Amino acid sequence: MTGMKNQSKSGPVWDQNFHDDFARLLQWRRDVRRFDTRPIDEDILIDCLRLAVIGPSVGNAQPWRLVRVRNEARRQKIYDNFKRANADELACYEGEQRMTYGALKLAGLDDAPVQISVFVDNTTTVGHGLGARTMPEALAYSVVGMMNSLWLLLRSHGIGLGWVSILTPDDLGRDLDVPDNWTFVGHLCIGYPMQTSVTPELVACGWQDRLDLEDFLLER
Ligand SMILES: Cc1cc2nc3c(=O)[nH]c(=O)nc-3n(C[C@H](O)[C@H](O)[C@H](O)COP(=O)(O)O)c2cc1C
Repeated sequence: MTGMKNQSKSGPVWDQNFHDDFARLLQWRRDVRRFDTRPIDEDILIDCLRLAVIGPSVGNAQPWRLVRVRNEARRQKIYDNFKRANADELACYEGEQRMTYGALKLAGLDDAPVQISVFVDNTTTVGHGLGARTMPEALAYSVVGMMNSLWLLLRSHGIGLGWVSILTPDDLGRDLDVPDNWTFVGHLCIGYPMQTSVTPELVACGWQDRLDLEDFLLER
């Protein structure tokens, strides 16, 4: 297998080529908001989803719940939800920052061929509560980890993902008719990107630069 040197007792060992490729994948993963409307390969999508859901979860609770939104009327309701929430967000900024915010494209809801709304089931009995009693939020953290894997997996196939959080969760849950015990985590727009870049869009437009590791890392 390319990138894998040999098998050892501790499992596969990956070579430098793999490390270089994996680093490139991390560097080139982008939040995508402009999509080519051509459909993506269904087998690739399903393979990526199957791999993403073997990810780690607290107590192995696997609390992720996915709603693939195909219905046009429901898609329109999500888009309307975004437009309302985005208008409220815009009103929070002033001056030049408001102008910059107003010029940003903050969702690919108008063109992404695939849309998946992701929820966490906070009441699941799978995993028997292990680890989630002390930290109930660990269930949502598990879902976020799965979503990040999906982001990378799709990108490795040249497919972009855009995470939309500028939405009112209660309205979204109602419009998708999901059980009351599911909590919204994020809405994912998926499709081939119109452009690719190593630079995040919010960095390119001057909204927010990247910080350095030293800005986050404490030594004690
Ligand atoms: C939890 C989460 C929520 C996000 N919500 C939005 C959103 O509503 N709209 C948007 O355009 N980007 C959203 N993003 C994307 C971020 O803006 C993006 O990840 C960040 O600017 C860094 O860019 P990059 O992902 O291309 O590296 C979200 C990302 C995360 C992780």
